[in-house]
Amino acid sequence: MSLESVRYSRGSLLVLNQLLLPHRSEYEPVAGVQQGAQAIRSMKVRGAPAIAIMGVLSLAVELASQPFQEISALLTFVRKSLDLLIDARPTAVNMKQAADELNAFLALEAEKPGATAKGLSESAIAWAEALLEKDVEDNRKIGDFGAKHILQDAGPAQSVCILTHCNTGSLATAGYGTALGVIRSLHSLGRLSHVFCTETRPYNQGSRLTAYELVYEKIPATLITDSMAAVTIRERHVSAVVVGADRVAANGDTANKVGTYQLAILAQHHGIPFYVAAPSTSCDLSLPTGDRIVIEERPSNELTDINGVRVAAPGIGVWNPAFDVTPHALITGIITERGVFKPDELKDGLTRDP
Ligand code: MRU
Repeated sequence: MSLESVRYSRGSLLVLNQLLLPHRSEYEPVAGVQQGAQAIRSMKVRGAPAIAIMGVLSLAVELASQPFQEISALLTFVRKSLDLLIDARPTAVNMKQAADELNAFLALEAEKPGATAKGLSESAIAWAEALLEKDVEDNRKIGDFGAKHILQDAGPAQSVCILTHCNTGSLATAGYGTALGVIRSLHSLGRLSHVFCTETRPYNQGSRLTAYELVYEKIPATLITDSMAAVTIRERHVSAVVVGADRVAANGDTANKVGTYQLAILAQHHGIPFYVAAPSTSCDLSLPTGDRIVIEERPSNELTDINGVRVAAPGIGVWNPAFDVTPHALITGIITERGVFKPDELKDGLTRDP
């Protein structure tokens, strides 16, 4: 059984508290939107797709427990709840895309003859449940497209060595994963020689979560610090870098976990491909470039302290941006559930009929 970031059945939502991993695997109940937003803010659940899934499912469990009599009251509650969830973390676009789609869907449903608050509430719940299913399907497609594409370049019977950053696996999605999904697919094809995962300072999503997933899946892998990436690429013959995304602009500029940009520069310097693996729900075609992506800044103690013990010199200033933007010129391809696109093909690729 693969790891699950959330466990859901109608009326019940549990979140795996990722702050406790890899030492303890504990699921905690989420009764509604306030607790859902809090789980996102505190990073009990994180990763762009998982944030959206937690958001809409926390709304679904609250709707299941709270009957509305009036359509207008229901629509106002849904809109305010979704706004709260969007504000929980600003950089990943998936929650905002889900909110826009759900609001638009409910507005159309409300116009239908015979619409009731109860019926709309059930439609919203079913919509949220469908998002959970679709995310896993999309990740499998991303995995398969990405693996095939990377192997085309590698040549017949050649195995590949991948370097990845942050956590993009089952813990960051509804299951399977994006960049880690590509790695999983390569592994199941028997064509993965090795994975290097970065520690991903300061929050250590790589050493705590990706390493945990790789060990769990028995995928041959080695942990490195972020500062070892250049020497690893050169001396361990890395074939490609594959990372996830929090928001991809229309021109392919990509916001992802801080440290991604330097990996793209290293890939270019060493002449190896650099891929972003992300569902179309992480693509924000309303932004022409990455310049206006809001980058979350996190508390200074994530840098200055380790396990609550201060390790940095007292008095030092700290800058802690959680993400950086990789310019599209450094990106070889963006692997989506619709196919693999060069950055300048992304917008057309995602807007053309499937
Ligand atoms: O701060 P986080 O842990 O939410 O950051 C996660 C990332 O940057 C991931 O690479 C991204 O969300 C893609 S997850 C499939």
